[in-house]
Amino acid sequence: MPEPLDRLINTLAGTGMTRFFRRLFDDFPDLLMKDLTVEEVGPGRTFKLGGRWVTNFGSDSFLGLDQDERLKAAVERGVRAWGTHNGSSRAFSSVEPNVRAERKIAEWLGAEAALIYPSVTLANIGALPGLVTRHDVLVADQYAHNSIDEGLKIAKAKGVRTAKFTHNDPAALEETLRALRPFRHAVVAVDGVYSMSGRLPPLAEFRKVAREFDGCLYVDDAHASAVLGECGRGTVREALGDYHNVLTIGSLSKGFSCLGGFVAGTQSAIDVLKLRSNPLIFGGPVPPPYLEAVCVALDILSSSEYPALRAKLDANVRALTEGAKRLGLAVMGGLVPIISVLIGTEEATLKAGKFLYERGYYVQSVVFPAVPHGAGVLRMQVNANHSASQIEGLLNTLSALKEAVTLPAASAAATLVAA
Ligand SMILES: Cc1ncc(COP(=O)(O)O)c(C=O)c1O
Repeated sequence: MPEPLDRLINTLAGTGMTRFFRRLFDDFPDLLMKDLTVEEVGPGRTFKLGGRWVTNFGSDSFLGLDQDERLKAAVERGVRAWGTHNGSSRAFSSVEPNVRAERKIAEWLGAEAALIYPSVTLANIGALPGLVTRHDVLVADQYAHNSIDEGLKIAKAKGVRTAKFTHNDPAALEETLRALRPFRHAVVAVDGVYSMSGRLPPLAEFRKVAREFDGCLYVDDAHASAVLGECGRGTVREALGDYHNVLTIGSLSKGFSCLGGFVAGTQSAIDVLKLRSNPLIFGGPVPPPYLEAVCVALDILSSSEYPALRAKLDANVRALTEGAKRLGLAVMGGLVPIISVLIGTEEATLKAGKFLYERGYYVQSVVFPAVPHGAGVLRMQVNANHSASQIEGLLNTLSALKEAVTLPAASAAATLVAA
């Protein structure tokens, strides 16, 4: 007789998403590359994946800082000074590099204070429910990141009223907040940049509407951290000129190549969040070696070296985006260093990814549910340490793909992004 746990797992294996993925694995055992192991990392953004050396166009380490000797040295220094982990929730104590990194993040942004979480996901599922009570409402853009959605679910379970509004639409936000009245305070959560469409939210209009309804803005700027705005500060200060009535969330994992996420805002907001973010109170912090590396990454972002690093990244993004458009492909994104090419069915998308991999280029085949059914994309992440010849090689291989199979017309991208 199977144990209840085995029967539970059996039931789950036959339902919804799990069944969908199982079928994908069964139908395309040779095409799915999700279980491949990275066996070695080489120079110049190459790695050995599933036994084959390829150029990696699937890394969020946009500035290439994961291979920077100064960050590696900082991690080593951190291990020697503090050990691998300090072993305590921040509800009890914080190591000095944690406090230093938070001070430096606030200085870099020009905000009063910052609070580091172990990831942006934990920031969103900690800070969002922490910011509201049963007398308040929490609303989010319909396309905001999944972790914002999870934050809304936790808040809802605590009795907070939550809602979604039409993507990037201030009038829809106004309508949504009006329909929720009466409430005490409102928190409006959006992404700072939508990586798939390359769209920015109308932050100034959103802030105006939020203020009219006694609400504040909560901007998840994870994709923009280190790669957009002056010194890589992201989109918020560029759009608003200040941080009044806004909490800014950033990533320490992607462009920073370290680990974690942060919330920045006023000192009093940060002080309250420390007391009301369950993942911070009941979970562990970012380990000290990574906090040392965050401090070094912040020094680089604030230095005279940064504009050259950004120029290299921006030039690479331009070269790939414009090159893919010249090929007549359906190109999406290109504002942050994530460029997607629409392929179509799940099978066609997986086959296209395999085609590139077999010719020496790794990109991510993204299929439903991350994108709409039948609208799979090849997602290419461009880094500052890709060479011009690697980008040219990828474009030549995309051109060969276009010769080999029929791909959607360039105009299809606009339809999908608008959907
Ligand atoms: C907007 C946004 N928020 C949150 C996350 C999750 O970040 P983390 O990996 O730090 O949890 C991502 C990751 O892609 C993201 O793009």
